[in-house]
Amino acid sequence: MFSFKDELLEKVDEELYGEYDYYISESSEGKILAVVLHFEEPEQDLISKMERVGLAYIGIRESRPEDWLKNIITEPFEMIPGVIVDPEDHELEVTNGKIVLKIPQGLAFGTGLHQTTRMCALLLKNYLKPGMEVLDLGCGSGILAILSKKLGAGRVVAVDNDPLAVEVAKENATRNNVEIDVRESDLFSNVDGQFDIIVSNIVAEIIIQMLRDAKGFLKQNGLIIVSGIITQKLSLFEGYQIVEQLVMDEWNALVIKI
Ligand SMILES: C[S@@+](CC[C@H](N)C(=O)[O-])C[C@H]1O[C@@H](n2cnc3c(N)ncnc32)[C@H](O)[C@@H]1O
Repeated sequence: MFSFKDELLEKVDEELYGEYDYYISESSEGKILAVVLHFEEPEQDLISKMERVGLAYIGIRESRPEDWLKNIITEPFEMIPGVIVDPEDHELEVTNGKIVLKIPQGLAFGTGLHQTTRMCALLLKNYLKPGMEVLDLGCGSGILAILSKKLGAGRVVAVDNDPLAVEVAKENATRNNVEIDVRESDLFSNVDGQFDIIVSNIVAEIIIQMLRDAKGFLKQNGLIIVSGIITQKLSLFEGYQIVEQLVMDEWNALVIKI
């Protein structure tokens, strides 16, 4: 059964996914709340987004730093088999060809914890062959671009329309000793050349927009890996040639040929 809470989460996803951390909760009086984790007074943009889905701003609930610090992961974790994310600069002894990605938490979306990122990582691991050229569209922290490079990709271009994400991805590329061409770009507006793989973890509607222009940026036999698609939005992808589909909870990732 699709509940009111699910419906609300879907609408909030459309407005906030990729920009803010949030969850849907129920107060002790039975009120449905969208809780947005935010470090300062909410700006008008956030309030307007909430109003668009029919939610009123009711105020700030402060939590003590020691509470939210508990939720920030500092220890290395295995994002997918064989790929470890180290949020801090630990001296790790890595064996069996495991890959380590140094990605500090919380600066841009793409910490390695979200299902949508993990499914893209699994698909990159399966489809990326050494020397392939990769475009990471909507790179956030740059985690997928950095993984691509560590999997042996040739040229890797990473773009995001958020200037902060661009800065963070550049810093993370340096931190991981990999050469990535990081650029600010709204979808393909500042992208040139053709790629073997385009990987894009955004939201269904933006991915559909991206797919309309993707052919011009793909080499022959190139593949598109997309994620960030909630199950209710899968029907938007009918008519595309889907080579593989992964599902984690309510999230889907697709490998598409066009
Ligand atoms: C869900 S995050 C994905 C981050 C990372 N690639 C990952 O998989 O964890 C989506 C990113 O897409 C970016 N984005 C959203 N719309 C975009 C657009 N039209 N053009 C480029 N980037 C966009 C957001 O700024 C955000 O950094």
